[in-house]
Amino acid sequence: MSDPAAVFSDAFPGGDIDLGNRLVNAEPDAFAEWVLAGDPIRRSERNRAWLLLSYKAATEGFLEPRFSSDRTRAFKRQIERRGDAFERTYSLLAGWMVFRDPPTHTRLREPVRRAFTPKVMERLRTSVEDTVEELLAPLSAGDRIDFKSAFANPLPALVIADLLGVPREERVRFQVWSDRLAEIVFSVETDDADEAGVVAATEEFVSFFTELMDHRRRHPGEDLISKVVNSGLDELDELEVVGACTLLLFAGHETTTNLLASSVRTLFDHPDAVTQIRSGEVEATFADELMRVAGPAKAMVRKVSEAHERGGHRFSVGDTVFLVMLVANRDPATFADPTRLDVARAHNPQLGFGWGSHLCLGANLARLEATIALGRLYRRFPSMTPDGPLPAWRGNPLGRSIREMPVVL
Ligand code: HEM
Repeated sequence: MSDPAAVFSDAFPGGDIDLGNRLVNAEPDAFAEWVLAGDPIRRSERNRAWLLLSYKAATEGFLEPRFSSDRTRAFKRQIERRGDAFERTYSLLAGWMVFRDPPTHTRLREPVRRAFTPKVMERLRTSVEDTVEELLAPLSAGDRIDFKSAFANPLPALVIADLLGVPREERVRFQVWSDRLAEIVFSVETDDADEAGVVAATEEFVSFFTELMDHRRRHPGEDLISKVVNSGLDELDELEVVGACTLLLFAGHETTTNLLASSVRTLFDHPDAVTQIRSGEVEATFADELMRVAGPAKAMVRKVSEAHERGGHRFSVGDTVFLVMLVANRDPATFADPTRLDVARAHNPQLGFGWGSHLCLGANLARLEATIALGRLYRRFPSMTPDGPLPAWRGNPLGRSIREMPVVL
């Protein structure tokens, strides 16, 4: 980029930043450098939100008790508008810990956190290894595929099915549902629903997981549902367990798909990093560095629940706040040489999995998937090239991803 200051000043007249502007995702390093030269806490009228940009401002935001994650009031307003048929969908989403504050958040999170036992994690390693091999097996050098749809999309859905103990023969149905679930959440958030479809999908989830829970109560295994139903039901009711299962599926599928696809796209510009990954010498560090530079979660949303001053600004109750990880992860005050992709970076407190009480419960699983999948992919296909020009980054205020990643293996 020739003159970032001129380019960004033109893109954001009056300094009013729009995180959804395509340039932010296309040039995150230059954007971070430009924006961090100014106030680390800013008002964006375009996004109708406060932006917490520096590492310090964003981490303080993640730990701030006067910021709320609670969406239940917004859900209730929607039930009033849309009618009782939606009640169950919203009850399901009200069981999602990510949309709650303490003490409910803690009550919903604890049994699920506890269920990620060392034994469950060990089983997941085997599941990831087997699933990666299963997906790589039919592929040969020279094949042209869309890496995203052929590999990055199915891998996490299949691994989460294993995590939850969903039988293999149910996996296809399960994957279809995973896509439907994204529609439900999207429609609830945007108010743009195929109402009958959303209600029907909710019922299908509830009956599928209720049956699975009954089965696991009678035949416990080393899966997460078995752990939760056999130890957590004192704390969670049945719909909350179904809520937890659907949240794991939602939170762990598209995010991991996007991390894998975005990593492959990013690494095409860094052949030396690919050589290091292939050698196996950076297994302990490369996934976090890819999260830092190619992580799919760009900003997290909070609402101000108590008025206060922050960095010389007045935050009022109900204001929206974006904790901007894309910028914080490139803050030179925390990351030495932040524009350098260093897959051996030892000190890497990147924020791509969040921070504080809502810190991603699947972070270790996502790291495991990226480490195993990319290590094996690059060893198996050392000459992989992009099939055509590298895909454009999609503009979105809260995420950074690509639609597809065509490659020649
Ligand atoms: C690359 C993949 C992933 C990314 C980028 C990611 C990112 C995140 C982020 C940023 C949060 C914090 C939300 C907040 O502060 O409001 C979060 C929470 C969460 N994630 Fe992940 N995640 C990934 C994979 C997974 C996986 C594989 C699972 C489980 C199978 C998972 C389950 C969860 C859950 C349950 C929460 C809610 C935690 C809470 O609210 O206490 N995530 N994730």
